[in-house]
Amino acid sequence: MTGRDCGTRLLNGLPCAPMKKKRIAILTGGGDCPGLNAVIRAAVRTAINDHDFRVLGIQLGFEGLLTGSAVPLTAESIRGILPKGGTLLRTTNRGNPFSYPGPDGTLEDRSRLVVDNVRKLGIDGIIAIGGDGTLKIAQKLCDLGVPMVAVPKTIDNDLASTDYTFGFMTAVEVATDAVDRLHTTAESHDRVMILEVMGRDAGWIALHSGIAGGADIILIPEIPYRPEAIANTIRERQREGAKFDIIVVAEGALRQDGEVTYLDKASRRLGGVAYQVAAEIAQQIDLEIRVTVLGHIQRGGSPIPYDRLIATQFGKAAADLIADGKFGRMVALRGEQIVDVPIRDAISNMKLVDPEGQLVSTARSLGVSFGDGR
Ligand code: F6P
Repeated sequence: MTGRDCGTRLLNGLPCAPMKKKRIAILTGGGDCPGLNAVIRAAVRTAINDHDFRVLGIQLGFEGLLTGSAVPLTAESIRGILPKGGTLLRTTNRGNPFSYPGPDGTLEDRSRLVVDNVRKLGIDGIIAIGGDGTLKIAQKLCDLGVPMVAVPKTIDNDLASTDYTFGFMTAVEVATDAVDRLHTTAESHDRVMILEVMGRDAGWIALHSGIAGGADIILIPEIPYRPEAIANTIRERQREGAKFDIIVVAEGALRQDGEVTYLDKASRRLGGVAYQVAAEIAQQIDLEIRVTVLGHIQRGGSPIPYDRLIATQFGKAAADLIADGKFGRMVALRGEQIVDVPIRDAISNMKLVDPEGQLVSTARSLGVSFGDGR
């Protein structure tokens, strides 16, 4: 039996102290997203099978690194999680160690506690799976010497440096299904149906599901709209014989002279722009309007196969990054290749829809209005 097989080194043929296995940790931060469990499963399997690592799961994102809340992740504990939505490790938008609410509510820097806990837990590398906020924290911890690698996640698909984030295509599928369903009821009642989908800063979900579902009007944050232009499109379509209209609006869409619509401004929770658009055009058209807000249905449930594939490749690649000591790097999709890029690059700017790009131009050629015309 070799030293590696039995965990015992041989020195000049004599057994010496057992070789300590490396220990890595995985955490999920920010909002959840279909495919997180697929990343965890792939990272754990690769870590154990290819690198002989032990793996810890940190619960509730960076919060778990503050409280030392960790559980062992084994081949057994990750069995069966591939098709499941959500995250086995749970997650939170709170728990930023650099800006943590103290007992009196003022924000404190507790990052030193994270550094100490990482050392106490004997962690040799951490895989942080998250969006913009999580990656910014990961980079700052990396700057303090915490060995971090990252996996990009968001249904909004707005992270730079990667072609797609897993979860996005699942959200697009859910939204497209909603557009299809709204078509049949809109058609039966001669109504304008407005579907509000997620997309805080970027309109990728609205654009993809709008085109895939054959929407008539798509409103996205990157192309501010005018209510008069929306009403004109609806009237023009009526003159051409159309009796109903489907509008897909991203939650972060805004009027040319307006602001984004918050459900709760203090916490910056978006929501309600579809109702605002409905109110803005109601007096200008003679069709009934109904609003559907899709909400977190887009984030829940089982990932589609495409997202499982990207997530699985990301999970494997992240475990490999730790094995190679490539800290401060994020796995990313470029074409069909999984590559790694500096986390710093991924958080330097957002990937927004190009208003002059191919997808928008294709939609316009098909007669889709972005609410920005006359
Ligand atoms: O960032 C992804 C996202 O789904 C946004 O599109 C949306 O505004 C936000 O998360 C909702 O977050 P929460 O779960 O906190 O309501």
